[in-house]
Amino acid sequence: MQDRIGQQYQDETKYHRGRIPRRPLDLVDMPETYKRHPDAPAIVSLPPVETSGGRGLWRIINGRRSQRDYTGAPLSLRELSQLLWSTQGVTDRAGDYDLRAAPSAGALYPCETYIVVNRVNGLDPGVYHYLVPDHRLELLRRGDLSSEVGAACLDQQMAAAAAAVFVWTAVVDRTRWKYGDRCYRYLYLDAGHIGAHLSLAAEAMGLGSCMIGALYDDEVNAIVGVDGERETTLYVGVVGKPVRRRRPRRS
Ligand SMILES: Cc1cc2nc3c(=O)[nH]c(=O)nc-3n(C[C@H](O)[C@H](O)[C@H](O)COP(=O)(O)O)c2cc1C
Repeated sequence: MQDRIGQQYQDETKYHRGRIPRRPLDLVDMPETYKRHPDAPAIVSLPPVETSGGRGLWRIINGRRSQRDYTGAPLSLRELSQLLWSTQGVTDRAGDYDLRAAPSAGALYPCETYIVVNRVNGLDPGVYHYLVPDHRLELLRRGDLSSEVGAACLDQQMAAAAAAVFVWTAVVDRTRWKYGDRCYRYLYLDAGHIGAHLSLAAEAMGLGSCMIGALYDDEVNAIVGVDGERETTLYVGVVGKPVRRRRPRRS
C-alpha cells in the first residue's frame, strides 16, 4: 500500500487516554464565527421558513434516494430558503452562541454555504453566500455558471442540470483554534451532517438531491472565491425538481 498519508494523519491526530493535548483557548484571537462580504453587490432577503409540521421523519428517511436527473424546472425562493435553514439556519441560542440546525464539533461552525444558482425564481443566476445570522443571501457574482460548476464537479452533468448547487467550505481556523490538526476530522464530519440535513429536507419537500464528493477542488474553490487553504471546499450537494419520484418502499 503506497498511500500512507491518510493513516499517518489518523495516527498523529488520535486521542490517547491520559495524553489528550491541552490547548489553552485564546479568546482574544478566536476566529470570527460569521463571514461577510462587505463588497457584495446585492443582499437578498429570504422568505420565512416552516419550523413545524411537514411529512413524518420515518417516511422521509424511507423515501430518500440520490437523484441525478432533473427536469430543468426552477426552485422557488421559498424552497431555497427552507433548504438553507434546514442545513445551517439558526435554531436556538445558548448564552452568546447561536446554535444551528445541524450539529458542529465544539459549536464552532466552520462551514460556510455558497449557492450556485442555476434556476431559482426571483434570483439572478450566479454565486451567492448564505448569511447565517440574517437568513439572507449575499450575491457574489452574477452569471450562468451551470456549465462551469458541472465541469468542476468532475464533469458530472447533474450539477449543471440541478436548479441549485450547494457548496460547503470550511474556514479551517475556526475549528483548528480548539482542536489543532485533529480539526480536519471534524470539518468533514460537520459537512457530512449538513449534507444529510439537505438530503432529508429535499426529500421532505418533494425535491431531488444528490451529494457530490468527486470534484476538482481548485475549480470549485475558484467558483466560490476561496483560497483552498484558509477556507476550502469540503462537499457539494445538488438540488432540483426530480424527473420522476421514486415510490417509497413499503416499511
Ligand atoms: C460523501 C459522499 C460523496 C458522494 N459523491 C457522489 C458523487 O460525486 N457523485 C454521485 O453521483 N453520487 C455521489 N454520492 C451519492 C452516493 O453515490 C449515494 O449516496 C449511494 O450510491 C447510495 O445511494 P442513495 O443515496 O440513493 O441511498 C456521494 C455520497 C456521499 C455520502
